[in-house]
Amino acid sequence: HAADAHRTDLMTITRFVLNEQSKYPESRGDFTILLNHIVLGCKFVCSAVNKAGLAKLIGLAGETNVQGEEQKKLDVLSNEVFVKALVSSGRTCILISEEDEEATFVDPSKRGRYCVVFDPLDGSSNIDCGVSIGTIFGIYMIKDNHEPTLDDVLQPGKQMLAAGYCMYGSSCTLVLSTGEGVNGFTLDPSLGEFILTHPDIKIPKKGKIYSVNEGNAKNWDGPTAKYVEKCKFPKDGSSSKSLRYIGSMVADVHRTLLYGGIFLYPADKKSPSGKLRVLYEVFPMSFLMEQAGGQAFTGKQRALDLVPTKIHERSPIFLGSFDDVEDIKALYAAEG
Ligand code: AHG
Ligand code: MN
Ligand code: MN
Ligand code: MN
Repeated sequence: HAADAHRTDLMTITRFVLNEQSKYPESRGDFTILLNHIVLGCKFVCSAVNKAGLAKLIGLAGETNVQGEEQKKLDVLSNEVFVKALVSSGRTCILISEEDEEATFVDPSKRGRYCVVFDPLDGSSNIDCGVSIGTIFGIYMIKDNHEPTLDDVLQPGKQMLAAGYCMYGSSCTLVLSTGEGVNGFTLDPSLGEFILTHPDIKIPKKGKIYSVNEGNAKNWDGPTAKYVEKCKFPKDGSSSKSLRYIGSMVADVHRTLLYGGIFLYPADKKSPSGKLRVLYEVFPMSFLMEQAGGQAFTGKQRALDLVPTKIHERSPIFLGSFDDVEDIKALYAAEG
């Protein structure tokens, strides 16, 4: 009966995206095919991440393969899997990865209309201690079928068609937006399918958490320092915010999206453009935040309006609950 309907009416990510794409009569399923290949990569990384700890602990063959080759670092291994999966999809023309210095221009025989920017393994310094890590991706469509160049991918984030991340934590959760809101899917390992578990995610308008690496405080600029001070010692008699900082952007952003609050990776004297990379960290997370009713700000402008000039360009980023980002925007505006 109705209560059990959902148990047999499985809303997999593929079915969900097919439904969404069916609204575009001209769509030929290319996007769904592309997404399926990204999902394949996420399933691989999920299983590899879960085994990595074991390999570390009991020296499984995984440490050095049978030819005695050095075990590839998980982020390099993940990168190889995503590049091969994306090329084999036959739907991509340019790939930008955190792990590849240069862009990958797909061979004409396998070329499609999408440019994918991705961070195959985000937070990789957290693998060995078992803290959640993730994959981040963004998708642009090449304008018309000309010879692809970097200009097709050095586009402002607002031109992205879709963006998402997969978090490898206590469960494997994929959060995706194709421009019509944000939805979360959880991997059911017994099915090997991502099932819709978080429909239509909306970030709380204001939160009680701020998320920043306080260790950089001595190098912050005025507005950032003032904002963090306000979080700790509110003037208006409101209670101070809690600090939560995991150090994996995917985990910090996922918590911010679900619980509300603000995530900051500000500029500082050492790194005037901050640390996070525009194309495959700042843009996808900013896209998701706006789609969930939040906002994302660079300290100077709306993050999605930024026009990158280099593929590994960095930018400061303040993203999360609408009202919390408003507060920091006001402090930067006051600094003038
Ligand atoms: P990556 O592991 O892909 O290089 O990204 C790490 C990033 C991001 O995940 C996180 O928000 C940030 O590094 C943490 O930096 P700090 O350790 O300087 O706080
Ligand atoms: Mn990263
Ligand atoms: Mn990475
Ligand atoms: Mn890295």
